[in-house]
Amino acid sequence: MSQVTEYSEKVMDHFMNPRNVGEIENASGVGTVGNAKCGDIMRMYLDIDDEGVIRDCKFKTFGCGAAVATSSMATELVIGKTVQEALQVTNKAVMEALDGLPKIKIHCSLLAEQAIHAALWDYAEKHGITIEGLDPPVNDIEETEEYYRMGE
Ligand code: FES
Repeated sequence: MSQVTEYSEKVMDHFMNPRNVGEIENASGVGTVGNAKCGDIMRMYLDIDDEGVIRDCKFKTFGCGAAVATSSMATELVIGKTVQEALQVTNKAVMEALDGLPKIKIHCSLLAEQAIHAALWDYAEKHGITIEGLDPPVNDIEETEEYYRMGE
């Protein structure tokens, strides 16, 4: 991908009209991650059926425009995928789908990847299963939860 210095049309579109904003009641998995440095927080909800297919995904993001756009795109990319396939929705895949992000905004897409991983991890824990290739969430959830409440 060539060096991107400004927001693509797709980024602007997903920022202005984010898809799948909200919550899923009784979600199969919920993941919240934050970036302590910029203070942005993202929460992802997954609805996964008995076959391990993601039927729905919603998000809430307290963050910058790129964080909103990457969460929005990430939800679109994981819906309809199996849990294993969803692991391929990396921050790079999200950025590519958005036609790139400026370099200083790359970390925002990492938040989207990690929020999905955290939600998958929650799903796996609730169902007593192991998802091959999935690492435990990297962020301190307790800390982000506190921030999340403060922001309400
Ligand atoms: Fe923190 Fe974008 S500046 S996620």
